[in-house]
Amino acid sequence: MIRRRRVLAALGALPACAAPPLAAQEAPLRQVARARGLVFGTAVRADLLATDPELAALVAREAELLVPEWEAKWDALQPEEGRFEFAPLRAILGFAQRHHQRVRGHALIWHAAMPGWLTAALAEGPRRAAALMETHFTAVLRETREAIRDWDVLNEVIANPPGSDNPSATEGDLRPTPWLAALGPGYLERALRLARQLDPTLRLTLNDYGVEADTPHAGAKRQRLLRVARGLVERGVPLDAVGVQAHLQMRDPFRPEPLIAFLRALRDLGLAVLVTELDVREPDSLAPSLADRDAAVADYAGRFLAAAIEGGVRNVLTWGLTDRDSWLVKEPAVARADGATTRGLPYDEALRPKPLRAALAQVLGAG
Ligand code: XIL
Repeated sequence: MIRRRRVLAALGALPACAAPPLAAQEAPLRQVARARGLVFGTAVRADLLATDPELAALVAREAELLVPEWEAKWDALQPEEGRFEFAPLRAILGFAQRHHQRVRGHALIWHAAMPGWLTAALAEGPRRAAALMETHFTAVLRETREAIRDWDVLNEVIANPPGSDNPSATEGDLRPTPWLAALGPGYLERALRLARQLDPTLRLTLNDYGVEADTPHAGAKRQRLLRVARGLVERGVPLDAVGVQAHLQMRDPFRPEPLIAFLRALRDLGLAVLVTELDVREPDSLAPSLADRDAAVADYAGRFLAAAIEGGVRNVLTWGLTDRDSWLVKEPAVARADGATTRGLPYDEALRPKPLRAALAQVLGAG
């Protein structure tokens, strides 16, 4: 029976399983956002949508826009050279279609989630690297052309400034990656031109992290991103939007002004700005009660989001909906060292709405 339920759920034949109830006066986030001309969305995983009807119902209710958390990364789409695997991504596209949702693509070029064969092949030199980029973009953009009209063509290509604790920090603006090593700084332009040529009306987005806070590090990274974006735009390279990931860290101070100025500077270049992966890492020492923690998370994220919207953001996606499924809980690299569950998404581990959900509704709905 369970198996049958799963299969039916995967096929979308199980709309009957209700998402956990909201208070009667609360509208779904997608509706709250839509009423103000905004779009709310979230990252999803095909395996969870297929096996967890409660989560699937929540995603259907709350989100207007989906982004695959894994299914459109290179190691998912081309696990072996020349063998493309579209089934998990198609499952998400099917889900979105059934629930009248749109999907954005993530990510064509990224230094992570690269299959081993790709890393090895890129080391063979520029001709091989250019050919691989072309083959991958051609197959993937052909496959997704009807359903996906916005792609993160470039993900995390800006280098972390020196002085940060990040091992990839460099003097140059571009992050050292196998793509940069193979093709030089021109790989950004090559990727964007190729995407434009293959799908002329696709929105081409550059997506990055670490630019949100009021810290010297984030300030320096904002300058780097702006410099790179300006350089591309001034040379006539096709680029339409910048995604601010917004993996927020509460140990960092936040002030609206630097973020708003940054977003406006990007918009002055003619670029759209999006919030693509919002979630919140709590500070190193936690407030004593869950209620205090949740209130602090909601306050921090709410202040960020209000500033982002003031800076011109119209599309807001969280990186998942529930703490139970969050990478902030599952991945050692970003999970808390003290073993506590990070409460950085709108719903808790039991899929109950938290103050963060209320803060999102409030900020998205504020007129
Ligand atoms: C993360 C996923 O959430 C994890 O499950 C995966 O193992 C690693 O990637 N920035 C991005 C996302 O652009 O693709 C990352 O997603 C989180 C950071």
